Amino acid sequence: MYTQIHFCTKKVCFMRVISFLNPKGGSGKTTAVINVATCLSRKGLNVAVVDTDPQMSLTNWNESGKAQFDVYTAASEKDVYEVRKGLKDYDYVVIDGAGSLSVITSAAVMVSDLVIISVTPSPLDFSASGSVVTVLEAQAFNRPVDARFLINRKVNQATMLRVLKDSIANTGIKVFKTGITQRQVYVKTILDGETVFETSDSGAKGEIEVLTNEILATFE
Ligand SMILES: Nc1ncnc2c1ncn2[C@@H]1O[C@H](COP(=O)(O)OP(=O)(O)OP(=O)(O)O)[C@@H](O)[C@H]1O
Ligand SMILES: [Mg+2]
Repeated sequence: MYTQIHFCTKKVCFMRVISFLNPKGGSGKTTAVINVATCLSRKGLNVAVVDTDPQMSLTNWNESGKAQFDVYTAASEKDVYEVRKGLKDYDYVVIDGAGSLSVITSAAVMVSDLVIISVTPSPLDFSASGSVVTVLEAQAFNRPVDARFLINRKVNQATMLRVLKDSIANTGIKVFKTGITQRQVYVKTILDGETVFETSDSGAKGEIEVLTNEILATFE
């Protein structure tokens, strides 16, 4: 259940919903959501993040209350269906998908303006993402939803990256030019309830900044 009720006070509301999905656990969804949502918030945007994972990793990350955005927990798909109405006063609502295939994934696709499929160079991650593509294709008969792949935990392994990019190309869904590199700073900051923006790691901060701009550009 949501803990706050929001009323849209603006003449026209432009709330956008972005979901990070891949039912394969460990593909870097929560880490990406926390850093991208922080980056959106640092741009002066009003951001809510919805944690749909039964393990509540994002909610637990915010135990110390350092998040620069509001955190909501969705206990069921019903809560996900309600985000457009319940959180309409925000500029951006970012949904952190669950690490297993569930009705929540379909609900998230239905309420989203943009679906970001987070994949790592691991072939197992890619095959799991196929279920999100299937939901997107089914949804397209009612209301097409824009989607992009995001290459996460990127390593300098040319062959693995080429295979991944070929697999992505076969789906017909675009991929963000900017990926998130495999870096220890992502692991450490999340453990400390923080983000890369509390560090001096300009490489990590830079890639999140450029990725966030790419995400925003999809709405132009
Ligand atoms: N860019 C990165 N560099 C290094 N480690 C990373 C990176 N992104 C995520 N990780 C690590 O990989 C693990 C899984 O990341 P994360 O929890 O973000 O994935 P997830 O997709 O949300 O998983 P789940 O589906 O289980 O919720 C964590 O230990 C995290 O610290
Ligand atoms: Mg997660």
